[in-house]
Amino acid sequence: MKSRKLGRGVAVVGAGMSKFGSFPGYTSRDIFVDAYKDLLTTIDKGIDPKQIEAFYLGNYSSDLFEGQAHLAPIIANWIGLSPIPAVRLENACASSSAAFREGLIAIASGIYDVVLVGGIEKMTDLPISAVTDTLATAADIPYEVSAGFTFPGFYASMATAYMHAYGATLETFMKVTMKNHFNGSLNPKAQFGQKISDIMEIKKANAAKKGKPIPQWENEIEFLSDERANPLIAWPMKLYDCSPVSDGGAALLLVSEEIAYQFTDKPIFVIGSGTASDGPLHNRSSLTSIPSAKLAAEKAYEMAGVSASDIKLAEVHDCFTIAEIIATEDLGFFEEGKGGVAAEEGQTSRTGSKPINTSGGLKSKGHPVGASGAGQVVEVWKQLRGEAGDRQLERNPDIGLTHNVGGTGQTSIVNIFERR
Ligand code: COA
Repeated sequence: MKSRKLGRGVAVVGAGMSKFGSFPGYTSRDIFVDAYKDLLTTIDKGIDPKQIEAFYLGNYSSDLFEGQAHLAPIIANWIGLSPIPAVRLENACASSSAAFREGLIAIASGIYDVVLVGGIEKMTDLPISAVTDTLATAADIPYEVSAGFTFPGFYASMATAYMHAYGATLETFMKVTMKNHFNGSLNPKAQFGQKISDIMEIKKANAAKKGKPIPQWENEIEFLSDERANPLIAWPMKLYDCSPVSDGGAALLLVSEEIAYQFTDKPIFVIGSGTASDGPLHNRSSLTSIPSAKLAAEKAYEMAGVSASDIKLAEVHDCFTIAEIIATEDLGFFEEGKGGVAAEEGQTSRTGSKPINTSGGLKSKGHPVGASGAGQVVEVWKQLRGEAGDRQLERNPDIGLTHNVGGTGQTSIVNIFERR
């Protein structure tokens, strides 16, 4: 593999996002306005929007979710940026990481100095069956979807294979759920801003209010083991193993290294970026790792000149709990087959050796698919600048990573960031 470097340095000097959740009556362009306004408040020395030269927008399927295609110029116009070039990138759940990479390449090549990167998805207007069908268009329609597979089903297959190969149990997955809901409880922008124990109390209180028998769960594991509270979606993935259906947007300002300090005294530099593609899941020899993610990580580490042990925190693609476990192995944080044990031991918690998904991850923060990759960058950017509020890591991290998967790994994109 040939080692690649950026033609010139690129920094992220602003990062904002809307709240993630369900927002009836709002379109994707309305939600993106929230993300863009939030971004503007994070640029320490301010910006004249006329300085923005191009807009790269990640969006999976506004066509099917909202009946509106050609979204990038529409949103550029809505936020007052016409007539700059505006391009939409679609790589399933990795769409806004694809947009990020295009913005990165554009600045590194010297074509532009200042670029807006965004991600947006408005998923909740459709009934769940139509959402599931829309998401399934990111898989192989003739060979997988027509055989009955949906995304919960794909990741359930991976979870089953992982349990068989490495002895993981349902409790292994529950530990990921509990950790990500805990982290999400510290994030005001999260869709599910409650710990599992908080959700238990809410459900007990609701039962009492309705005069129904009050459930007697002793702890979070008992709650997650109760099939009325945590119903099966696709065995062994249950409701609380799944990321939700979400609306949300995220926005990032990328600039060339030479001008970064005009915008802030605390730029965050992009030091590595890697991506790879693959065929559909049914053609792969293993279900317990994602080859494109390993390759993307290898390329990103090589460009950055760092290794897995240098990464102080990572936002990884936990569309299902099994996906987080596999991600931590594909990224080289833990040996193959040891990611589950690491989750059980708390190594991926805020205070563990490798904090994963301090934002709450897709599981708890939410997964508006086209916005998720850009949302991951928002979290790493805030953590590296020491601005993550209640969820700020105490160890003052200097290098962070994002890992974003499209489909079951037909696309993987890994980016590495540094505070200097
Ligand atoms: N985790 C935890 N709770 C969830 C949840 C999730 N993922 N999704 C919904 N809920 C909660 C809701 O808040 C609601 O709680 P309440 O009864 O206390 O109000 C309850 O579960 C029912 O919500 P509802 O919206 O009716 O659920 P649903 O059955 O329509 O959807 C899933 C649940 C799991 C099917 C849906 O979230 C899903 O498809 N997730 C996967 C999305 C996906 O595949 N993304 C792409 C990944 S590659």
